[in-house]
Amino acid sequence: MLKRTHNCNQLTTEHVGQTVALAGWVNAYRDHGTGLIFVDIRDREGLTQLVFDTEDASQELLEQADKLRNEFVIAAEGTVRVREGGPNPKLATGEIEVVVQRLEVLSASETPPFLPNDEKGDLPREEVRLKHRYIDLRRPAMQQILKTRHRVTKVVRDYFDEQGFLEIETPILCKSTPEGARDFIVPSRNQAGNWYALPQSPQLFKQLLMVSGCDKYLQICRCFRDEDPRADRQAEFTQIDCEMSFVEREDVMQTMEGVVRRVFKEVMGVEVPTLDRMPYHEAMDRYGIDRPDRRYGLELVDLSEACANSEFKVFQGALAKRQGMIKAIRVPGGADKLTRKMTDGYTEFVKQFGAGGVPVVKVNAEGKPETGIARFIEAEWPAIAELTGAEPGDTILFGADSRTTCLKAMGELRIKIAKDLDLIDESKWDFLWVVDFPMFEYDEEGGRFYAMHHPFTAPEPSQIDAFLNADPKDVDTIEGIVSAGYDIVCNGSEIGGGSIRIHNQQVQSKVFELLGMSKEEAKDKFSFLLDALQLGAPPHGGIAFGLDRLVMHLTGTDNIRDVIAFPKTQIGADLMTEAPSQVSEDQLKELHVLEVEIEE
Ligand code: AMO
Repeated sequence: MLKRTHNCNQLTTEHVGQTVALAGWVNAYRDHGTGLIFVDIRDREGLTQLVFDTEDASQELLEQADKLRNEFVIAAEGTVRVREGGPNPKLATGEIEVVVQRLEVLSASETPPFLPNDEKGDLPREEVRLKHRYIDLRRPAMQQILKTRHRVTKVVRDYFDEQGFLEIETPILCKSTPEGARDFIVPSRNQAGNWYALPQSPQLFKQLLMVSGCDKYLQICRCFRDEDPRADRQAEFTQIDCEMSFVEREDVMQTMEGVVRRVFKEVMGVEVPTLDRMPYHEAMDRYGIDRPDRRYGLELVDLSEACANSEFKVFQGALAKRQGMIKAIRVPGGADKLTRKMTDGYTEFVKQFGAGGVPVVKVNAEGKPETGIARFIEAEWPAIAELTGAEPGDTILFGADSRTTCLKAMGELRIKIAKDLDLIDESKWDFLWVVDFPMFEYDEEGGRFYAMHHPFTAPEPSQIDAFLNADPKDVDTIEGIVSAGYDIVCNGSEIGGGSIRIHNQQVQSKVFELLGMSKEEAKDKFSFLLDALQLGAPPHGGIAFGLDRLVMHLTGTDNIRDVIAFPKTQIGADLMTEAPSQVSEDQLKELHVLEVEIEE
């Protein structure tokens, strides 16, 4: 086989006159009948134009060239010359071409289902791309993403190595531990009726590594959560998982800000400034979401007090609910920009979040409300106008409901309006920490608490006594306990989350109790953790970044499947290998999933 001397993105006028060899795929073939045949050869790095000169080349070479088709794998040897047809400024190798003297077809290709040299607009449906992923990945845009992903993990490993972190692998076959999502489970052959779970994250192992004295841990690890995939969520995804001993919240945040700064600088040339910290309640009040995108305005304005005596039934009904509230979004110039169809659509939109609708008013030239619910809010208008900063030509949209529903609906509506009106400045980067999360969320319907992050997150140090003394039935007090957790948010997406952990058995047991776990259940599920916490556990804390989400930001895609070499579809299928698939009855019997028939 001809051994390549260069890659397909390397040759310049400096190489003119040299004999070189390239290997790659036929990206395009052109025979204009002018005595020259052009073949663009493509590899991971780029493209180079090969030329077959019909006057000088041997008959055998021309016959070989004539058989080439798209996606044939070839190696070619020839001489570099200045491109005779004039330079192609779009290509790094656009100033030269290689006049071929020797050609080897390393592998022929049938007509591919699509060509990987297509611009994105011409691509086939995603299912076709996923079925033939190896062709899709040949596209320069996909190769670029894979390179960026590699670069990120390399920079991350270097950074943490410099900081004294050890990369340590944790098991994939685990005991099921609750992290909020559904587990993927694997039957045990040796222990009939018992099951492993695939890790939702290495959370407890990394904590136990701290108890083991490992001090600082890193793992770029696969996590598995049996949830329905979404645009930024896969059932199988990758975390950059870290844990540190003898630290407080601030220490972890500083170290982790450092890695984000290094990655964005080295991979994108973006300088990340010192990150703002926003308390959870402020994020919820102003943006209706715990991962605010501050690249645009449309902040939520609280009108609960201003409208406390409103006679408008919708407002009255909302305020009568537990933690009822009224919020508004002012859309500057909305009277012209938001059509009736759009505002009607918003009412439908918020229904999916449990809200009843979105009352609207337009602000007329005199600064007074018109249309929609204008006549119901006349008395409150001066206060509403002042709080929202309403100007002539604006539209004000209202949300009125229980706190949870109102914030969810208005937070999502804010994002939708920003997208609809193209208000997001894509050239900006907005990073922040969200801190001071409540430890627990109370589910009214189920009458029970859920851990806001996970059950191993410690209360903020000043809250530990209050927490230990809290009566499990005292919902208000428990809801008010603040955790030592933190999320890192980039452009409205949570790219990482972590916390200082509980390293005291009594505190851990109290969390389990509040989550409704009996002592026996806690022991059954977590005796290994509860024991370890009594055998010398250092104070520790950490974080996990979503590697896929980070790479999405760094490559500018909003589809998580684009940043994973072999992703799964919305229903968790790998269209290429056709997983999941049936297995034989024998396998199931061996694993004790099917009853074994006892032979007489
Ligand atoms: P958490 O569940 O917040 O924390 O996950 C950490 C980060 O992982 C990313 N992420 C996902 N990315 C793609 N698909 C998914 N299904 C998915 N789920 C989560 C997010 C998220 O911020 N053990 C804790 C971390 C800790 O406390 O240290 C944990 O897993 O970017």
